[in-house]
Amino acid sequence: MSLQQVKLLDLPKILDERGNLSFFQNEDHIPFNIKRVYWIYDVPGGEHRGGHAYKDLQEVIIALSGSFDVVLNDGKEERKFTLNRSYYALYVPKMIWRHIDNFSTNSLAFIATDKNYDGEQYIRNFESYKQMINE
Ligand code: TYD
Repeated sequence: MSLQQVKLLDLPKILDERGNLSFFQNEDHIPFNIKRVYWIYDVPGGEHRGGHAYKDLQEVIIALSGSFDVVLNDGKEERKFTLNRSYYALYVPKMIWRHIDNFSTNSLAFIATDKNYDGEQYIRNFESYKQMINE
């Protein structure tokens, strides 16, 4: 897996004077079937989340409110994605190291994945991650 497979997906946007609406649904807008969603909120200033890779789990990350940076690393290069629009979904395939930081006040990170929660999916040590991708 490499950063080449990471994609910033442009979600549908239904513009309306009463307020805009965006959505995504299985098979049409994101490259996997959704099994679980979770969200990160009330992040104190200066905190970061993540700092791991998943062995076999894909996700999309959306800034439903506010902004934050998703920093991705494939063991060779690093790339930072600043998310600040609720109609962009960052697709992160399996085996990509990631952390999220620079959360704005009241930001809301929404994440959809293709697997239920399983602690065994996590690689939490960057050196172990690099070893695994080189095997
Ligand atoms: P973790 O994925 O480590 O958070 P982050 O990557 O955002 O820093 O999860 C933090 C805790 O929450 C951990 O104890 C596991 C638990 N958790 C669940 O029980 N279910 C979930 O769907 C998620 C994402 C986490």
